[in-house]
Amino acid sequence: MEWSTEKRYLPYEKWSAKELLELQAQASNSPYQLHYHIRPKSGLMNDPNGFSYFNNEWHVFYQSYPFGPVHGLKSWAHCVSKDLVHWKDLGTAIYPDTALDSHGAYSGSAKVIGDKLFLMYTGNARDENWIRHPHQMGAFMDAANKIEKLPKSLIEQPKHTTDHFRDPQILEHNGKFYCIIGAQDKATKTGKISLFEAETVSGPWKDLGYVDFSKDDMGYMIECPNLVFIDEKPILIFCPQGMDKDVVNYRNIYPNMYLIGEKFDFETGKFTSNSQIKNLDEGFDVYATQPFNAPDGKVYALSWIGLPDLTYPTDAENWSGCYSQVKELSLKNGKLIQKPVPATTNLRGEAVEFTGEMTTKNQFELKLQIAAGQDAVLKIAANDENTECLKLHIDTKTGKLILDRKNSGLAVNEKYGTERAIAIAKNSAVDLDIFVDHSLIEVFVNGGENVLTGRFFPKGGSNKLVLDRDINFKAKYWEMADI
Ligand code: FRU
Repeated sequence: MEWSTEKRYLPYEKWSAKELLELQAQASNSPYQLHYHIRPKSGLMNDPNGFSYFNNEWHVFYQSYPFGPVHGLKSWAHCVSKDLVHWKDLGTAIYPDTALDSHGAYSGSAKVIGDKLFLMYTGNARDENWIRHPHQMGAFMDAANKIEKLPKSLIEQPKHTTDHFRDPQILEHNGKFYCIIGAQDKATKTGKISLFEAETVSGPWKDLGYVDFSKDDMGYMIECPNLVFIDEKPILIFCPQGMDKDVVNYRNIYPNMYLIGEKFDFETGKFTSNSQIKNLDEGFDVYATQPFNAPDGKVYALSWIGLPDLTYPTDAENWSGCYSQVKELSLKNGKLIQKPVPATTNLRGEAVEFTGEMTTKNQFELKLQIAAGQDAVLKIAANDENTECLKLHIDTKTGKLILDRKNSGLAVNEKYGTERAIAIAKNSAVDLDIFVDHSLIEVFVNGGENVLTGRFFPKGGSNKLVLDRDINFKAKYWEMADI
């Protein structure tokens, strides 16, 4: 299908209910469809937005283009959960239906204010010359999930940034509100994070300048900046597009990075850190991760598993993208730890001992402990001949873990490499918690010290799980329930 600009920006009401239902059925029936992760009802999903706890429920919204696998006119779709694992998709919540968000209700965040949930997002508007005008907007959602947008833009594009100015994260500190916004500096065309302050969320918002967190250039644009606090330390999670690989190496088209800090000064924007900027995920497709400090004292995060400017095999089925499972973030010995939330275990079926070969539904969790000094390949979604599969090469002799999707079915963005590798301790046992959901793998290494996430697209009937060598290991397998 030809996706002209005109077609991508066709108002939602021009699409018929029948077209939408057909797209939803096509996505539902896909063999690549996710069964225990958040996925789009139809069309394309990208960034998680407004991840929050409100009215006794967890909420997350997703950037949605419901009519195809392209970045068209974006809205927010709304999902709710009681346990961070079972999610219900309530459909479109914020439509791009005002002059200020006419070309997309872009990414943003949420904060409980009184008895309402305040949503702050970027209204993307283009004029007749197709010049972009980003407006930072506000909306209140009540306990019946009814959303009312504030009529005026809260923050306009500052003079010192270009029109790449979006993705506000709202924060509260010492009785004041702050927000950080991804930006491109006008003079240097480099990626920045803008900081604003207000007494009330409806403004006026005062520009406090850029967050000062690194001497290095952060590429040409920072998307989706987020600040959370773990054990009182600030953690910045952000997407520096076009960042020089000499600053921090990465393999994906755009990276999703984080920086652990010591202190963040809300008044000056100074982010003090003794750490290095690092990749949040060592796999293929994590982007736009949205963490938040939850009222239960924990920090949770959700990632878009998909990357901007790339295509995926399910585009042929008119849908694209999914989310990671919710990850709990913590700090241990100065390292960021990412773990599945405890309620994930509620999806487990009966525990089965994995002895080295079995047939699966490609919808499982596998806990695998491999002793020191072993070298093996775990073949996931393997065909009968074991010639096509997703490979996890585990070498506890030399200390290497490699996720290889080269020959795992349909090709996925091979230009950016087909392997992702991390170093693990040499001559030490390794502990892996592996989640497979048809076309998604998440590998949590050594209690969440590293995570490797990626999409893969096995051909029909490829559903064997095989450990290719007789090695010293212990493994438990659970089929996972649909959510
Ligand atoms: C990141 C992003 C954001 C923007 C949104 C639009 O993937 O480009 O910067 O707000 O997607 O869908």
